[in-house]
Amino acid sequence: MKRRLIYLNNAATSFPKPKAVYSAVLNCMRNLGVSVGRGTDSLTTAAERLAYETRVLIASLFGIKNPLRIAFTYNATHALNIALKGLLSGGEHVITTSMEHNAVWRPLKHLERTRGVELTAIWCDGEGKLNPKEVERHIRRNTKLIVMTHASNVTGTIMPVHEVGEIAKRHEILFLVDAAQSAGSLPINVNEMNIDMLAFTGHKGLLGPQGIGGLYVREGVDIEPLIHGGTGSHSYLEEQPYEMPERLEAGTLNMPAIAGLKAALESLMRCGVENARQHEIALTELMLQELSGIKGMRIYGPKRASERVGIVSFTVDGFDCGELATSLEKRFGIIVRWGLHCAPMAHRTVGTFETGTIRASVSLLNTDEDVIALARALRKICNA
Ligand SMILES: Cc1ncc(COP(=O)(O)O)c(C=O)c1O
Repeated sequence: MKRRLIYLNNAATSFPKPKAVYSAVLNCMRNLGVSVGRGTDSLTTAAERLAYETRVLIASLFGIKNPLRIAFTYNATHALNIALKGLLSGGEHVITTSMEHNAVWRPLKHLERTRGVELTAIWCDGEGKLNPKEVERHIRRNTKLIVMTHASNVTGTIMPVHEVGEIAKRHEILFLVDAAQSAGSLPINVNEMNIDMLAFTGHKGLLGPQGIGGLYVREGVDIEPLIHGGTGSHSYLEEQPYEMPERLEAGTLNMPAIAGLKAALESLMRCGVENARQHEIALTELMLQELSGIKGMRIYGPKRASERVGIVSFTVDGFDCGELATSLEKRFGIIVRWGLHCAPMAHRTVGTFETGTIRASVSLLNTDEDVIALARALRKICNA
């Protein structure tokens, strides 16, 4: 009999998905199979309706008034690259944090080298927490943008997006938020949080398939497109149209992934983000409690589950992270991730750059038993 795997690497990609997601992807490929804007037939109209309804669901999840201000992208990395490269032409100053994923930090470093963009990364504390006052203190005359993650993918730390949004608004600076780790777990309202641009991905907390994400851009903000090409509309124009979402959506959309994302959003909204969050807090609380009793255990990030998303990073004194993670899978069928998790500066911030961490991360579909199995396995391996 095949051993049941316990999957605790949901911060990378959530798995499994709600059953409705699998059927929606298959149904789209089998029965719809066409592309938005590439015809006037009934199938194309149905595909357009599907894409629009998905934008409407995303809009209602994030408090966005006009669903057409959401462009589909492949993932959060793609969305962040569009926003950063389309906004910063050179000479501007950008403020970010030391907890960013490479999806933010690498495009910024590229822009620093190629366009002379000036960067300030505000150093967070040992739990990955950001002091919003430090953001305000570093604003310069040429600060054009503040870009930051909503939640760290290393420590799970929830960042003060609300407070930083207010600062950005007061100083008339654009505010871009990376919601890769928060969409689907934390309530997000772009208006209340003064978010001008929101980058998200479909395959993590939103429980959709890979290959789909999005970028919301507030009315009045124009982003120079990263990719130019056909949109199925305004074909007489030699340049990319100004209208959103076509401005940022050249090329054929990933319809099966959009169909899957729509089904995922419907099931998430049936459950309710608040309930999903309560489930996440309960599992994270249990994980913090269960793991903290293990000999040599060091847990990084905030002590309280309510201050983090469903991510717990740890090391165990005397054990190599890679060997421990391999034993967890080989001996107990438990999948976690170890290493730097594409966020090296976050590890420098919390002091784990040399060792990396083991990261266990939960989704809506994990249970108490999964978390208890992880703690039991670690106790056995570490002989505690
Ligand atoms: C905080 C953060 N930002 C951005 C990304 C990039 O997401 P994607 O791989 O979907 O582009 C990730 C993925 O791990 C992440 O954790």
